[in-house]
Amino acid sequence: MDTLPLNKVVRLLEPGPLVLVTTAHHGRNNIMTMGFHMMVQHDPPLIAFVLGPWDYSYKALVETKECVIAIPGVDLMEKAVDIGNCSGAEVDKFKEFKLDASDAENVKAPLIKQCLANIECRVVNTDLTKKYNLFVVEAVKAWVNSERSEQRIFHHKGDGTFSVDGRTKDLKARMTKWKEITK
Ligand SMILES: Cc1cc2nc3c(=O)[nH]c(=O)nc-3n(C[C@H](O)[C@H](O)[C@H](O)COP(=O)(O)O)c2cc1C
Repeated sequence: MDTLPLNKVVRLLEPGPLVLVTTAHHGRNNIMTMGFHMMVQHDPPLIAFVLGPWDYSYKALVETKECVIAIPGVDLMEKAVDIGNCSGAEVDKFKEFKLDASDAENVKAPLIKQCLANIECRVVNTDLTKKYNLFVVEAVKAWVNSERSEQRIFHHKGDGTFSVDGRTKDLKARMTKWKEITK
């Protein structure tokens, strides 16, 4: 094995699905792109993510304590990257990227109609926000767009390259200790 520079460790662990995070603040909807997120708990579902003060979305999240995590399909890959390369301070991203906002049920942040899934979230813990820009949110409602023909998600490899979901292998029968999650 060769050594890997520590600043590249992210490339080994980051590839969860790339997601979009919406917020609404003072009547203005915004979207950002996010790679740094993880599940924390099954029930109630808790998710942790890093959202930094360099993002216009940060103030909206801190002040409203609400967001939507939207999961784009592979057809939205280029848009998702472009959304993460401009600021809501200057651009109305829903308009610029021709995405439709629709009302969520429990939060003011909007759903993105074109996405595969949308998770309405409320911030429940900010103990590590000051130190690591880390927020823990609770999923309070989830929506999936099962009618959509393109269901593949994609992953940021941490360096501006992306991989697309491939073959799914069903190993449910081997998950003997974790039957609950295979139902
Ligand atoms: C592939 C990709 C992944 C990103 N992941 C994160 C992330 O996990 N956390 C974060 O704070 N910013 C992340 N960003 C940066 C924000 O999306 C970017 O700063 C964006 O312009 C913020 O939008 P806003 O200023 O309108 O909030 C990522 C950007 C890209 C392109």
